[in-house]
Amino acid sequence: MVAADIDFITALDRQLFGIDSWPRTMFVDELAQPETRRYIIAELPSGVEHQDREGQGKTVAGYAGLMCVPPIGDIQTIGVLPEFEGRGIARAMLDDLIAEAIRRGAQNIMLEVSSTNPRAQRLYQRYGFEHIHTRRKYYRDGSDGLIMRLQPPVSTTSKDPS
Ligand SMILES: CC(C)(COP(=O)(O)OP(=O)(O)OC[C@H]1O[C@@H](n2cnc3c(N)ncnc32)[C@H](O)[C@@H]1OP(=O)(O)O)[C@@H](O)C(=O)NCCC(=O)NCCS
Repeated sequence: MVAADIDFITALDRQLFGIDSWPRTMFVDELAQPETRRYIIAELPSGVEHQDREGQGKTVAGYAGLMCVPPIGDIQTIGVLPEFEGRGIARAMLDDLIAEAIRRGAQNIMLEVSSTNPRAQRLYQRYGFEHIHTRRKYYRDGSDGLIMRLQPPVSTTSKDPS
């Protein structure tokens, strides 16, 4: 994701998250910190029928963001356009961000998901994320926030200095 994407992504975020969507400034701030952030967009191959992002000739299907300050990685957001759900796009983006978090030294990867979003919870559970804490009434719609944690396996490629 780059600065030119922000208007489009802010509108998409509003569509997907409503009252809990991020203000534009949040995306601006996040993109301004590449040393601890990675934000990505999933694009469809050209030729797929869908409205193109104005002027850029790209077809956006979803977006996701990571904050990583080792040893903690945080999946900050993830969203897929309703018409492109169920094709593995969220999984592709999670694969990317989890790999990046590990590459940056994360030993715990955290995320927060609404108690009223079983679909997203299932997706995370399949990756091995475990529900470790509940923040009561965390979301503005009154739903609880479930904090989930993934502890990726320690890399076996690093050499034992002894
Ligand atoms: C939650 C969300 C990100 C999932 O995105 P997605 O791209 O549909 O997710 P995936 O396709 O990777 O996987 C989800 C489902 O599709 C299925 N799937 C994955 N690859 C598939 C493929 N190639 N073909 C068909 N189905 C597939 C998965 O088995 C899974 O099924 P299930 O959840 O119905 O059991 C999306 O629904 C979304 O943006 N929702 C609104 C915003 C939101 O809730 N974000 C999460 C906040 S924490």
